[in-house]
Amino acid sequence: MELQVWSVLMHKTIFVLGWTAVVVEVAVGGGSGGGNYSNNNNNNIDDTDKLSLLGFKSQIGKDPHGILKSWNESLHVCEWTGITCGRRHKRVTKLELNSYDLKGSISSHIGNLSFLRTLDLQNNTFTHQIPPQIGRLFRLTVLILSNNSLSGPIPHNISRCFALQTIALFGNNLTGKVPAEIGLLSKLKKLDLGRNNLVGEIPESIGNLSSLEKFSLVANNLHGRIPTSVGLLKSLMVLRLVEAGLSGVIPQSMFTNLSSITEFGLTGNQLQGSLPPDLCRSIPNLHYFQLSYNQFGGPIPTSFSNASNLLYFEVPKNNFIGKVPSFARSSNLQRLLIQYNNLGSREDEDLNFLSSLTNCTHLRDFSTSGNNFQLTLPKLVGNFSTELVPFAMEENGIRGSIPTEIGNLINLGVLSFAGNQLTGPIPSSIGKLQKLQYIYLNNNKLSGFIPSSLGNLTQLSRLYLESNTLQGSIPSSLGECKSLIDLFLSQNHLSGPIPKQLIGLSSISITLDLSSNILTGPIPLEVGKLVNLPSLDVHDNKLFGGIPATLGGCTSLRYLYL
Ligand SMILES: *[C@@H]1O[C@H](CO)[C@@H](O)[C@H](O)[C@H]1NC(C)=O
Ligand SMILES: *[C@@H]1O[C@H](CO)[C@@H](O)[C@H](O)[C@H]1NC(C)=O
Ligand SMILES: *[C@@H]1O[C@H](CO)[C@@H](O)[C@H](O)[C@H]1NC(C)=O
Ligand SMILES: *[C@@H]1O[C@H](CO)[C@@H](O)[C@H](O)[C@H]1NC(C)=O
Ligand SMILES: *[C@@H]1O[C@H](CO)[C@@H](O)[C@H](O)[C@H]1NC(C)=O
Ligand SMILES: *[C@@H]1O[C@H](CO)[C@@H](O)[C@H](O)[C@H]1NC(C)=O
Ligand SMILES: *[C@@H]1O[C@H](CO)[C@@H](O)[C@H](O)[C@H]1NC(C)=O
Ligand SMILES: *[C@@H]1O[C@H](CO)[C@@H](O)[C@H](O)[C@H]1NC(C)=O
Ligand SMILES: *[C@@H]1O[C@H](CO)[C@@H](O)[C@H](O)[C@H]1NC(C)=O
Ligand SMILES: *[C@@H]1O[C@H](CO)[C@@H](O)[C@H](O)[C@H]1NC(C)=O
Ligand SMILES: *[C@@H]1O[C@H](CO)[C@@H](O)[C@H](O)[C@H]1NC(C)=O
Ligand SMILES: *[C@@H]1O[C@H](CO)[C@@H](O)[C@H](O)[C@H]1NC(C)=O
Repeated sequence: MELQVWSVLMHKTIFVLGWTAVVVEVAVGGGSGGGNYSNNNNNNIDDTDKLSLLGFKSQIGKDPHGILKSWNESLHVCEWTGITCGRRHKRVTKLELNSYDLKGSISSHIGNLSFLRTLDLQNNTFTHQIPPQIGRLFRLTVLILSNNSLSGPIPHNISRCFALQTIALFGNNLTGKVPAEIGLLSKLKKLDLGRNNLVGEIPESIGNLSSLEKFSLVANNLHGRIPTSVGLLKSLMVLRLVEAGLSGVIPQSMFTNLSSITEFGLTGNQLQGSLPPDLCRSIPNLHYFQLSYNQFGGPIPTSFSNASNLLYFEVPKNNFIGKVPSFARSSNLQRLLIQYNNLGSREDEDLNFLSSLTNCTHLRDFSTSGNNFQLTLPKLVGNFSTELVPFAMEENGIRGSIPTEIGNLINLGVLSFAGNQLTGPIPSSIGKLQKLQYIYLNNNKLSGFIPSSLGNLTQLSRLYLESNTLQGSIPSSLGECKSLIDLFLSQNHLSGPIPKQLIGLSSISITLDLSSNILTGPIPLEVGKLVNLPSLDVHDNKLFGGIPATLGGCTSLRYLYL
């Protein structure tokens, strides 16, 4: 009896001290003489958790699925939806309410759930701040509040939750800086602060997180450099700093010391500097290497030729120069994007790089556009992966003809060789590529007829063949391309009449440009079917016969060049 009164008093103390609850509890346990808790005790402790949870519930304004109906007197707290209790102590250890469309704020009462290890409220609509009382939860190992509408700063007190292993606050509206105190969370393995409005620099203290495996700050408004201390994160596997607002020279230690890295996501910053040639020796297990839209320069590290686990290699819109290494050992490579750099060196080396890609049998996405490759397009492009969808080598100085073997690439969706020095005919094998949607072969020196097999491409929506030396008549089969919306055949040597099947193709809804050819005859009456077309250009031809009256049917027409 004496003991009970005492323990009730102690629990009053718990309410005041909050996060010192565990110390008190051990004292009570000691008082009962055997490391066990009396039933009375449990009831009181239940009350703490119950009151805290009811406090938490009171701040939830909308619960459309009625999830919190079970949080009532007729059920024990441990049976409430989303609650898990410790088996022995019957204290709340997990609060998990993931994806229930809950609307409200996170009550400061949460800080009284002193046994809480997991707090997961992801993918709801919690608003307002993360309560600083969260810092009392010193047993918390998992904190997931991603995909809510939380605002305000990340509370500094979070650094008191020294057991934390996961912090996921992705997809909120958090402001302020990344608190430097976060560097005190030595057990942290995953820190995801992506898609918020965080500002300031990445704190140097981040280098203290020696257990950190995943670190993301994607899509924030930070500034300044990546701190050199990042090079100390020996356990780091995933680094995502895409569109984070970072600038300056990247610390070399990132490329020499982080030997566990599998994913480098640095796309869309203003980072500078060059990459060490032996990068892939220091970092042997790279899967994703994403540096697009930055200001990196110098050569692509030769050691990429040893990157056998590589899946994505993306460096568009940088200032990389020189030779592109062989990717023959990257047999799992899916995406190789190197467009808009100053790559390309000597013909034999450029050809070597292209040949190496025949080993990448899962390549899906390939672009070299906007570089200085000086080579003759080899037949072996027909041996590229049949999984290839976009294949782009625009503005590269490429010579030679388009090999017939291109017809092997049966999944091709985009064929883009515009702005090169290509000669010879368009191979009719292109008609086999049933999934083609975009053909960009404009601004080359292609000659011969437009193959009638193009009429087989029922998904073709854009066909750009302008500024070549194509001749003969326009095949009437083009009228079969029922998805065509945009067609440029201008500035060629095309002759004969305009096929009525083509000019009556009502899907064309952006541009129909046949100008600067030597087309003859009248404009077919079918022109009136182009009801969606805003721009029709047939000027600089040898047409005659006047404007057909049916033109009045082209109700969308705004530009007409005769
Ligand atoms: C729980 O926390 C709130 C807010 O921090 C505090 O006002 C209250 O006294 C606490 N209640 C209990 C039962 O400990
Ligand atoms: C604790 O108490 C429960 C029932 O009150 C009992 O079953 C259990 O054996 C006790 N455990 C210890 C370690 O004394
Ligand atoms: C309490 O919750 C249970 C489970 O959801 C439900 O069956 C019961 O009707 C609720 N009781 C009250 C009084 O709301
Ligand atoms: C998020 O919640 C919405 C609606 O509750 C649901 O449709 C969606 O599947 C959830 N997303 C995830 C990733 O759980
Ligand atoms: C958050 O939302 C994004 C976009 O809707 C979704 O891809 C992601 O799976 C969601 N994450 C969580 C944890 O719900
Ligand atoms: C948060 O931490 C500050 C000191 O860092 C302290 O003064 C304040 O009381 C803490 N707030 C809560 C709610 O724990
Ligand atoms: C984020 O906050 C800004 C202003 O503070 C507000 O305009 C915006 O709608 C908020 N976005 C979300 C997703 O809550
Ligand atoms: C990093 O850790 C060291 C030793 O644990 C500590 O002295 C230092 O204050 C920490 N630095 C920061 C910025 O957290
Ligand atoms: C890189 O690692 C070396 C050796 O482990 C260490 O001496 C050096 O301090 C690290 N550099 C940085 C910037 O982390
Ligand atoms: C590739 O790895 C081998 C074996 O480790 C090594 O000898 C060679 O120098 C590496 N090549 C490049 C270009 O780094
Ligand atoms: C390319 O693939 C072939 C067949 O899988 C293999 O024998 C060859 O060694 C690979 N080339 C390189 C450089 O890895
Ligand atoms: C195009 O389709 C026709 C039938 O419409 C067929 O005879 C021809 O072989 C096809 N051409 C190609 C290149 O697939």
